Amino acid sequence: MHVTFRQLAIFNAVAEKLSFTEAANTLHLTQPAVSVQIKRLEDSVGLPLFEQLGKKVYLTGAGEELLHYSRNIFQELGEAKEIFAQMQDISRGTLSVSVATTASSFATRMISAFLKQYPAATIKLDVTNRGTLIRQLESNEKDIVIMGKPPEHMELVGEAFMKNPLVVIAPPDHPLAGKEGISINALQNEPFVVREPASGTRAALEKLFAWCHISPTIQVEIADNEAIKEAVAAGLGLSVVSRHTLELDLQAKRLVILDVEHFPIARNWYLAYRRGKRLSPIALAFKALVFEQAPKMAEALSP
Ligand code: PGA
Repeated sequence: MHVTFRQLAIFNAVAEKLSFTEAANTLHLTQPAVSVQIKRLEDSVGLPLFEQLGKKVYLTGAGEELLHYSRNIFQELGEAKEIFAQMQDISRGTLSVSVATTASSFATRMISAFLKQYPAATIKLDVTNRGTLIRQLESNEKDIVIMGKPPEHMELVGEAFMKNPLVVIAPPDHPLAGKEGISINALQNEPFVVREPASGTRAALEKLFAWCHISPTIQVEIADNEAIKEAVAAGLGLSVVSRHTLELDLQAKRLVILDVEHFPIARNWYLAYRRGKRLSPIALAFKALVFEQAPKMAEALSP
């Protein structure tokens, strides 16, 4: 059955008016043009769709059936148009973004700035570790991912937008607090509170320790940056965290940064997505905002 949308639209008009002339007027066509299209449609369907009894036009049984389906088709087409309009309209769009645990402190501020510009937009935010972010990139689940260095084995677009210095933290009463130029070997005998193995922060820390041939004792492993800071403040050990998560702790003098050689570890924050992915208008707008806000954010997070 070869049926065109145009034929169905003409059919709907005739079926609603039950008049070829009125349908032609509504569609700005001539009456013979309408008749030709209905005839072609009847040929495709293989059954008559209208019958004329006296001066009146009636739908046949096949016509009634076709009207039911064609109304549904136009209804669905209308819904699809509405969805596409919503997807083009950033102000009402939905953005699905996933960020590294450590990035959540500034990512939420960036989202807040974005929602000031687009108050009716919806943001679905996932905060998770590097291992999960890589899995999400593999399965193309998210519009945008914010993470430490993107893995090299994957076909990704990864654009660095802000530095992410990793520093050693201690409670203010720790014997190393306030000392200058501490040798990294001085950490060998310190217990450490670290992130879970799938964390990017943990990987960076282990890489540096391995390179320096030291292996401090891992006292506690916690999959949460805030809880790690609590544990360090409570004296459970030292840790290595992003400088960008310490603003309030340093102000409140709950934690101090130790001046250890090779620190801060110089990492960067990247905005990443699969190569070839076609970013939606809302994802492009968010990406632009991230790059625009990054310099201000870096300044605010580590003045
Ligand atoms: P993380 O990621 O929160 O998994 O440690 C941060 C990073 O990769 O630097």
